[in-house]
Amino acid sequence: MLAPTLVLGIETTCDETAAAVVERQSDGSGVILSNVVRSQTAEHLPFGGVVPEIAARAHVDLLDGIIDSAMKEAGVGFADLSAVAAAAGPGLIGGVIVGLTTAKAIAMVHDTPLIAVNHLEAHALTPRLTCALAFPYCLFLASGGHTQIVAVVGVGKYVRLGTTVDDAMGEAFDKVAKMLGLPYPGGPQVERAAQSGDPARFAFPRPMLGRPDANFSLSGLKTAVRNEASRLTPLEPQDISDLCAGFQAAVLESTADRLGVGLRLFHERFGLPRALVAAGGVAANRAIRGALQDVAAKAETTLIIPPPALCTDNGAMIAWAGAERMVLGMIDTMDAPPRARWRLDENAVAPPGFANTRAGF
Ligand code: KG4
Ligand code: ZN
Repeated sequence: MLAPTLVLGIETTCDETAAAVVERQSDGSGVILSNVVRSQTAEHLPFGGVVPEIAARAHVDLLDGIIDSAMKEAGVGFADLSAVAAAAGPGLIGGVIVGLTTAKAIAMVHDTPLIAVNHLEAHALTPRLTCALAFPYCLFLASGGHTQIVAVVGVGKYVRLGTTVDDAMGEAFDKVAKMLGLPYPGGPQVERAAQSGDPARFAFPRPMLGRPDANFSLSGLKTAVRNEASRLTPLEPQDISDLCAGFQAAVLESTADRLGVGLRLFHERFGLPRALVAAGGVAANRAIRGALQDVAAKAETTLIIPPPALCTDNGAMIAWAGAERMVLGMIDTMDAPPRARWRLDENAVAPPGFANTRAGF
């Protein structure tokens, strides 16, 4: 029987500065001892989106204090840690460098193993922390930076079944909000405005509907909204609501169709998924949750959506992914690189020890 694994996780790939301490018990279950997240929304609000340079500087200013709080809240010292894990990408490179370098410094000073975690892998493994979900399952990840359907087959074994060919879904929500004069982050604003809108007033396109692959496309839909908005300018509040409702309805229909295909592809290759798991900020959208429920039911599987604080970016998911890798001996070396781009399935079927070669990418 393995001893409990205590991991500090650090997340700095976008606009959340986060650190957490998670313990993986010998029976494979996880306990979150602390999970401290400081969102930089206020810093980026005046610019209507995340400014990479501002994010990197904010991570530098905030990270030490956040790690300190996470360690204190967990009641542990650096000497107690089994490993220190940091998100090494994909993400905004300045922020990734801040988090990974901090983790390397801690690892070096305290002679603790380093785990360089793929941020997408951390989202993918979260339901194993929250509800001990067994492999294989299907992940739908929709955030400001990513829109992917992934078969999660094992730790380090991921197959990307679908992805966006242009904008990420959260990004499309944010851009639509911006063009309609709604504040950042736009997703919740669009959802709210859509509640009092008529989804049928505009005939927006349903991107990729009926295609045999499971990819997404959102930029054409976004442009269609922009064209209608410019035609109607100046916009009345009801126009904004109707545009939001029409946009959201198109996203829902397209998502349901794409996920239907994704789950079919999953079934053909890996059998029945144990669950459809949704993660990322867009999974907070109630209309989208409803659509996912229907998709899961049709595919005869269960929908699992981790609690909001673990669906959006956080340190606990990095710590947990670190713990899962740690127990399999997947430890990284000090030359593990920060990576702006890092496909999840580059890791596919990588044996333990692969960590040393990964630095060469
Ligand atoms: O996962 P997340 O917190 O951060 C990353 O992007 O990594 O996701 C944030 C994204 C933003 O684009 C935001 O507009 C979107 O998720 N979002 C939503 C909703 N809440 C957040 N999109 C649609 N409906 C929502 N209710
Ligand atoms: Zn994320």
